[in-house]
Amino acid sequence: MKKKVSIMGAGNVGATTAQFVLQSGIADVVLFDIIDGMPQGKALDLAEACPLWNSSSTIKGTKNYSDTSGSDIVVITAGLARKAGMSRSDLLHANANIVREVCIQIAKTSPNAIVIAITNPMDVMAHLAWKTTEFSCKRVMGMGGILDSARLTAFLSWELNVSPEDVEAIVLGGHGDEMVPLSRFTAVKGIPITELLPKKKMVGQK
Ligand SMILES: NC(=O)c1ccc[n+]([C@@H]2O[C@H](COP(=O)([O-])OP(=O)(O)OC[C@H]3O[C@@H](n4cnc5c(N)ncnc54)[C@H](O)[C@@H]3O)[C@@H](O)[C@H]2O)c1
Repeated sequence: MKKKVSIMGAGNVGATTAQFVLQSGIADVVLFDIIDGMPQGKALDLAEACPLWNSSSTIKGTKNYSDTSGSDIVVITAGLARKAGMSRSDLLHANANIVREVCIQIAKTSPNAIVIAITNPMDVMAHLAWKTTEFSCKRVMGMGGILDSARLTAFLSWELNVSPEDVEAIVLGGHGDEMVPLSRFTAVKGIPITELLPKKKMVGQK
């Protein structure tokens, strides 16, 4: 039997995550949202695309927590996204209420799940998910640093006109203004970035 991945929030990130899981065929998906009809409609579209991807994974769109029960992985994307001029921290209070509510239900219906928090501010939401579910810290994580590292990789490949495959970049710290690009550990085919770009350029000066 395939593993079960429940995605909480069927917006941009949730639906894209569902597509990725289905396309790769690694698990069955439950797509959950509070908006009636929306996760069901997106799930139907994705289910009908599975034959194109030669994927035998299944997807169910729902607004019932019971459909998510027994999940192996729960991905939390439920919440508000930033609008122009907002920082990720501006989302804190509204999204904390949503993530807390989702996590209370996850703890009841999928007590053995691995939880991946994506909702912003991601670092705080991952911590909240850990506290609320009371799961082992080994089963609760956030996704953000990998996106920041991928973005740095993309920027460097554009700047140096090289393939992103040849760039190795790493960003540590919070998923927000406190992120730290580690230039010492960033290289193109093994050549440190410090030898390819002037320091001024790296810190964003003209
Ligand atoms: N960590 C990262 O790297 C990263 C990257 C992109 C976006 N994000 C964050 O992910 C979140 C989602 O972004 P998006 O672009 O998909 O937003 P979106 O508005 O497209 O989707 C959010 C969905 O959550 C749903 N929702 C709200 N309350 C809910 C609840 N209680 N239960 C279930 N669903 C609920 C909404 O109905 C909506 O469909 C945002 O907080 C955004 O900032 C994080």
